[in-house]
Amino acid sequence: MNRPPISEPPISQPLVVDTVPALRAEILDWRRDGLSVAMVPTMGALHDGHISLVRAALATSDRCVVSIFVNPAQFAPTEDLDKYPRQLARDLDRLTEAGAHLAFTPTVSEMYPTGFATRISVGGPSADLESDFRPTFFDGVATVVAKLFLQALPDRAIFGEKDYQQLCVVRKLCRDLDLPVDVIGAPTVRDAHGLAMSSRNAYLGAAELDVARRLNVILREAAAVLAAGTDENSVTGEASAALLNAGFDSVDYVAARESLTLAPWRRDREGRLLAAAWLGKTRLIDNVEVSST
Ligand code: PAJ
Repeated sequence: MNRPPISEPPISQPLVVDTVPALRAEILDWRRDGLSVAMVPTMGALHDGHISLVRAALATSDRCVVSIFVNPAQFAPTEDLDKYPRQLARDLDRLTEAGAHLAFTPTVSEMYPTGFATRISVGGPSADLESDFRPTFFDGVATVVAKLFLQALPDRAIFGEKDYQQLCVVRKLCRDLDLPVDVIGAPTVRDAHGLAMSSRNAYLGAAELDVARRLNVILREAAAVLAAGTDENSVTGEASAALLNAGFDSVDYVAARESLTLAPWRRDREGRLLAAAWLGKTRLIDNVEVSST
């Protein structure tokens, strides 16, 4: 018997919705069918790091919703809100390839209608590191993430370890407010030179890119020296000096912290070495694991 050739199912673009009622209606349909839902919050300009989160979402859940929203609440007036890359058509192509089901692309007025007056402030892991240099950042992140979770009510949400402090803050947000969302951390996706993928890498010129690629190398070397027993202050001091030597213009911090709480690191605990440094007008962050003894 002649059978028709088996063809691949057509790859379909995710459904795009830009209002909260439309988002809720779609997700309600999935819920009626008994399907589980994972969310991947993003600010767009999607790269392989974001796509790895979509894949992790699809590995754990029946449906994946990706939000694309450049959140003004987490940018200080001096930061790059206006120049942050926006490329929705390309993002939707990437989400199509990855197999995401729904893209939520709200406008600023959908998320923050006139008169919006609430901010969520998470303590604990948001203290210092990024907050020393971006004091309003985590309030902005916590506020938008809480809104996204309450809008979509996903079973789980995937966040990158690339923004390690953010991952800890979102976990704490859910625990403290009893938000019923399982927050899953996914490993940092890097280029062939170990540079963590970031939408902001697009700002870097060729010479800057060479310098940027030293960040992960210096951090990994420092983490190894730290794990081998060298004093923490001398390791972080030397790593800062090495970053400046490599061509970074300034270093905001290099710090060792306890992985789970971001409290000061103790040798018998899993640790994380975190850093932020400037290259021209671009601020890069990265972090690596420090093994315990
Ligand atoms: P954005 O910078 O777009 O990042 C969205 C998600 O992708 C975050 O969870 C981030 O940690 C993850 N990510 C970025 N680069 C990655 C990489 N190289 N490897 C793995 N994951 C990576 O982070 C934000 O947006 C915003 O603060 C947001 C949480 C969406 C709130 O507005």
